[in-house]
Amino acid sequence: MAIRINKEKNIFALVGKNSSYVFTVESNQYIRHLHWGKRIDDLEDFELIPVDRIDSQDAAIDAMPEEYAPFGGLRFKSTAIKATFADGTRDIVFSYLNYSIDNDTLVIHLRDSYYKLFVDLYYKMFEDLDILQRWVEVENKGTSDIILEHIRSAAFNLDGTYFWSNQVSGHWSSEQQIHQERLYPGKKVFESRKGLTGNNHSPYFILNKNADEGHGDVYFATLAYGGNFRITIEVTQFHRVTILMGINPFDFNYRLKPNQKFTTPSVYAGYTKNGFSHMSNVMNDFCRNYLMPKEKRNTLHKVLFNSWEATKFDVTASKQIELAKKAAKVGVELFVVDDGWFGARNDDTAGLGDWVVNKKKFPHGLKELVDVVNDLGMDFGLWVEPEMVNPNSDLYRAHPDWIYYFKHRAPTTTRNQLVLNLSRTDVQRYIIEALDKLLTENNISYIKWDMNRPISEPGAKNLQLSDQRSSWYRHTTAVYKIVDKLRKKHSNVTFEACASGGSRIDYGTLQHYDQFWLSDNTDALDRLYIQEGYSYLYPIKAMRAWVTDVPNKITKKTIPLEFRFHSAMMGILGLGGNLTEYSKEELAFTKEKVSEYKKIRHIIQDGYVYRLKSLTYSTIHAVQYVYQQKESVLFVFLPGQRFIDKHYQVKLKGLDPDKIYEINKKDNIFRKHGDYLMNVGIHFILMGDYQSELVYIRAIE
Ligand code: GLA
Repeated sequence: MAIRINKEKNIFALVGKNSSYVFTVESNQYIRHLHWGKRIDDLEDFELIPVDRIDSQDAAIDAMPEEYAPFGGLRFKSTAIKATFADGTRDIVFSYLNYSIDNDTLVIHLRDSYYKLFVDLYYKMFEDLDILQRWVEVENKGTSDIILEHIRSAAFNLDGTYFWSNQVSGHWSSEQQIHQERLYPGKKVFESRKGLTGNNHSPYFILNKNADEGHGDVYFATLAYGGNFRITIEVTQFHRVTILMGINPFDFNYRLKPNQKFTTPSVYAGYTKNGFSHMSNVMNDFCRNYLMPKEKRNTLHKVLFNSWEATKFDVTASKQIELAKKAAKVGVELFVVDDGWFGARNDDTAGLGDWVVNKKKFPHGLKELVDVVNDLGMDFGLWVEPEMVNPNSDLYRAHPDWIYYFKHRAPTTTRNQLVLNLSRTDVQRYIIEALDKLLTENNISYIKWDMNRPISEPGAKNLQLSDQRSSWYRHTTAVYKIVDKLRKKHSNVTFEACASGGSRIDYGTLQHYDQFWLSDNTDALDRLYIQEGYSYLYPIKAMRAWVTDVPNKITKKTIPLEFRFHSAMMGILGLGGNLTEYSKEELAFTKEKVSEYKKIRHIIQDGYVYRLKSLTYSTIHAVQYVYQQKESVLFVFLPGQRFIDKHYQVKLKGLDPDKIYEINKKDNIFRKHGDYLMNVGIHFILMGDYQSELVYIRAIE
């Protein structure tokens, strides 16, 4: 049983295979954190260490590690919830009511001591993986409105102050760049104010104490929310690190009417003493087993072709048919037409919002192309950007008030587009109907859902003045509602989340979409860095990667086709080059690699990932994937020759030390014990620029 309770001492524990999370209710008022880390079985031993007031300037309550501190009384620290009541009181005093257990979930029931604001803290431990899910539900059981000014999903408290933080930072074309830094007293804030996750930071924390890939304490938690988020990590004066996670309080409020509830997004948190690889692979399992949309969790994703880099906006039926024929010949299983197929879409200045096929480009409708693609044995997919509208579109001309805007302010465009006000139900309906029509009338199996700008001037005319600051939140949840509706009706469709590349990568999006587009930067070397950062907390099963043409459209680098394949084969393989211009040899090579990928994709998509060597610290880059200790693939890259060096040794991970493995290294086949492979490794001779190798390893039964 994952929930243990010591009723006498009022101690609650969520217990996993190797870790426990423990807290207590103190003085019927404070939910005080006691322990997060190695599993402790006996709750009897826990005692309350007194929290003393130091002097009148530092309140004892600020030193207490609270599970969910409300703004109120002598609290000056960052708090998890703040509300304004109808009479102007802006202060919450919790009183503990009781607890309940429902469906393996522990619920701590609290209420304000005077006002009828009820707050439930939810805790659920996924025992097999030691992942703790937390979320909060509040309800107004009074007769007047309550304004929630901020409401976080969870607070975490760690003992001690010596921690390193790992986080990604980036911008368009350089997403997911990992950086590690020592924490010092004060606050470190990672957030988005853009109305979507954004590519600047990720809604998670990873804190460690001198951990590496294979060893060391790592605490991590990720917020399942793809809108404005804030992660605040504070090294406090009281020898502790406190982390708050949730919806960004920036420009936020939510009016709770009588009898209304508000549920926060969940956070998923874990602790391991086995370093970063263990964290990543626990989360690979967690996403595949529990989190990702059920319909596609257990399928191996298909090799796709995407038209974007090959044809940009110049999409016509005849050109796409030409590409489709080539794609089918090299083994592509899914043909996706990107931007440019609809409305008056000849460039990015027009057409967004008009989700009807462009008659000039497709004189016989979309069906002609879909039929050809299907006859060639491939599935068909389409790009859409449903949350957007170009001022130059029929939709905008008909409904200029359907966008977010403020009075007396001209709405700002970026990439020539405006954001539709998704808090309006008529706008939601329009999007659902337009996409449902497309999916019903055409045999579409894949939707790439893009969002190419952040939200600005978030005025929503349909909302009352006191509700205006909820529009950011309403937008994010409306996106989920729309996708879920479409998924329900069209359960065969796979959904890819894209936002100018990787601006919508988070666990909230992952609960509604099956795949992520990581970056518009398809340079195979830059991708190694982007994919590495991504792989810390996001699942490989959702990582779409394409092989594109050289010189690369963004970086202008020319990288050999084999290196480009090896880089993209580390995720869900796609092709994005102009196949009609490939030489015979290139087509043959592409066909060979696509077929090789199909043989190993279960190892990549359903296996574990090990970052063996990183270009941040090493001349070569090496990533290994392991499937049930039976099969493994190793990718090794030398981007540039260094001095006269040529000998490199790569130690493997995740194998069975006692098993004998057969290694296929460039058709040189040999056998070694797992023990040897993991402790001595495989020897490589690599010389020159852009060298890469794929090694296939399998256990001998
Ligand atoms: C964004 C996406 C690209 C492509 C274009 C189309 O930039 O990230 O992959 O779909 O939009 O306009």
